[in-house]
Amino acid sequence: MDNTRITDLAVVVANQSDIPRHVAVIMDGNGRWAKNRNLPRVAGHRKGVEHVRDMVTVCGEKGIKYLTLFAFSSENWRRPPQEVRLLMDLFLNALENEIIKLHKNKVRFRTIGDIERFGKKITDLIHQSETLTQKNDALTLTVAVNYGGRWDIARACAELAQRAVRGEIDPKTIREENIEPFLSLAGYPEPDLFIRTGGEQRISNFLLWQLAYTEMYFTPVLWPDFDRAHFEQALVSYAGRQRRFGLTGEQIEAARHA
Ligand code: IPE
Ligand code: IPE
Ligand code: MG
Repeated sequence: MDNTRITDLAVVVANQSDIPRHVAVIMDGNGRWAKNRNLPRVAGHRKGVEHVRDMVTVCGEKGIKYLTLFAFSSENWRRPPQEVRLLMDLFLNALENEIIKLHKNKVRFRTIGDIERFGKKITDLIHQSETLTQKNDALTLTVAVNYGGRWDIARACAELAQRAVRGEIDPKTIREENIEPFLSLAGYPEPDLFIRTGGEQRISNFLLWQLAYTEMYFTPVLWPDFDRAHFEQALVSYAGRQRRFGLTGEQIEAARHA
């Protein structure tokens, strides 16, 4: 690592706070929650929407500025068509019902992912919601729908390749920082804390690039049971960690007190 990067990291470390700026969540376990109660899977998805509201509220209270939620992966199309349709309807209804309240609470709403595949009704509503809330600055709520981390990176590479073909960029000069502006979350701070509910310990093609140095928190609690107390527990776990970004613990302490 060269000296410039160490200086950058010193700044990053000095700015570390016990409260994450950006939290990314895989909301998993809805189906199992419903199954445990002999209910159809969609009942779990429905219940899960309520906890999105709780999370947005807690983020507002704690001063967390970015919340990024995985709602539907590019691989979730493989599910039975009926479940996919119900998930779409639920997303549409939730957005229709909540967007005015989100706007009142100064939440900027965004989606990432290949939304065109959802058809005109959902795409239009997403665009209207994004435009309505684009100037809000209390919290950026980003919902990943038809999103895949590999799709995101491939798209950024395609964009760079096109620029190279047009002669706007020399491929030999491409560095990590040239890729970032073409990713879906360009301009966001990287997630500080990643939470996955439902007991699985995997990333399932979520934010592959951005999670490089994120603190991971896995909990067996199923998403429809994940209330504000569980979220606060995750925040306590985060606050107790020392992030080192490849440096030694001593370097981190020195940077903190510089
Ligand atoms: C997460 O819950 C929601 C989506 C993937 C849309 P699941 O539906 O994956 O629930 P489990 O993992 O089957 O319990
Ligand atoms: C990840 O959950 C995607 C979302 C929560 C939207 P999955 O339930 O699809 O992940 P896998 O299949 O268990 O890896
Ligand atoms: Mg699952």
